[in-house]
Amino acid sequence: MSSKTSFPKAKINVVLVESIHPRAVELFKAEGFQVQTMAGAPDARKLASLAADAHVLGIRSKSDVTREILDAAPKLLTIGAFCIGTNQIATDHARKKGVPVFNSPFSNTRSVAELTIAEAIGLHRGLGDKTMQMHRGEWDKSAAGSHEVRGRTIGIVGYGHIGSQVSVLAEAMGMRVLFFDIVPKMALGNARSVRGLKELLEASDVVSLHVPATRQTEGMIGKAELARMKKGSYLINNARGSVVDVDALAAALKSGHVAGAALDVFPDEPAAKGDRFTSPLQGLANVLLTPHVGGSTEEAQEAIAEDVCDKLIKFVNVGSTGGAVNVPEVELPEQIIRDGTRTVRPHRILHFHKNVPGVLSKMHSLIAQMNANISAEYLRTSDDVGYVVLDVDPSDAEAIRRKLADIPETIRVRVLW
Ligand code: NAI
Repeated sequence: MSSKTSFPKAKINVVLVESIHPRAVELFKAEGFQVQTMAGAPDARKLASLAADAHVLGIRSKSDVTREILDAAPKLLTIGAFCIGTNQIATDHARKKGVPVFNSPFSNTRSVAELTIAEAIGLHRGLGDKTMQMHRGEWDKSAAGSHEVRGRTIGIVGYGHIGSQVSVLAEAMGMRVLFFDIVPKMALGNARSVRGLKELLEASDVVSLHVPATRQTEGMIGKAELARMKKGSYLINNARGSVVDVDALAAALKSGHVAGAALDVFPDEPAAKGDRFTSPLQGLANVLLTPHVGGSTEEAQEAIAEDVCDKLIKFVNVGSTGGAVNVPEVELPEQIIRDGTRTVRPHRILHFHKNVPGVLSKMHSLIAQMNANISAEYLRTSDDVGYVVLDVDPSDAEAIRRKLADIPETIRVRVLW
């Protein structure tokens, strides 16, 4: 992005902690920003001192950006969560301060889909048990119970970003694909949607779950659903731990009704590396267990870095909040107007304000009194905060900025040129 900002780019200070992928450093440097990095997660005091000096703060899941840290970071324009979740950030408080938070919910889609296909094959071949036997020195060469996935039916529950990728990859492996989603979805390739979960469970050789954790999906696969699955079929859960009743699954596996399962997510996951993991599924035959690594690949980390950087850079340079998790989303064009052969670059005023009745009319009457020339106005609001963007004639920008800053409901004003 080549747009200038009112603030010299070389003075934009980006602080990246928790070993964010080096691609982020490259992208920010290419913009001319200053970049400071830290390998591990800073403690609260260190994070506060880093944030106090940052215009852009990049974290992953282990840095808690609290209200106190935000209150002590007056320069902070925006925060990037280089991960999926944003629970570690006081996002509501950030919104009230006009600080958008961006994350990357879908950059690891492909990684999860690939693991799912690997597991579908692994379960059909009993790979987990065979490799354990070999590590113990046991040689058991046999075809019994091993199958190709070609020609088998995979039933995908949740046909969103991941489910639909699994669909494409499974077809490439020669599998038949059925799917069930609560929202009508266009089937990819030869995949076929079914009317309900029951139909999917009864018809699939392998059932793969790709739904979010909601009240509706909690315990979605329990004793009754497992009983509906074909005898000798497999279950894969790379979605969320709350979706499967693991005690019921353990019972179905022990009885032999379900022939194997792969799980990457669990109802109780250890908080930190090295903490003990326990599950009723441990020690059961043909069960593949992984520590919530479905989306954890270097490629996904790089894709996350590119996605979050793109959003942060667009916000700093252009004012766009598309993809923000906590402020109204406004997608903005570059601030260029073509007037015949002339190209005019208006100044852009970015204004976060408390969303209370009368603010917009105050703004408009101030601007009308000044007889200012406005070429574009964009507005989105959430319950408590509004975001207005005005493209104005450069000669009017500073006066408008000062007047808007004086409106008591103003949270933050910034000008780009
Ligand atoms: P998405 O939001 O793109 O797709 C979810 C789909 O599930 C949507 O199409 C939605 O309509 C559907 N759905 C919701 N409730 C349903 C229900 N009751 N029955 C049937 N369908 C329902 O989400 P995405 O990115 O595909 O992620 C899917 C799951 O994978 C999420 O739970 C996510 O947390 C998890 N995930 C796990 C990772 C891992 O490391 N194992 C990494 C990334 C995501």
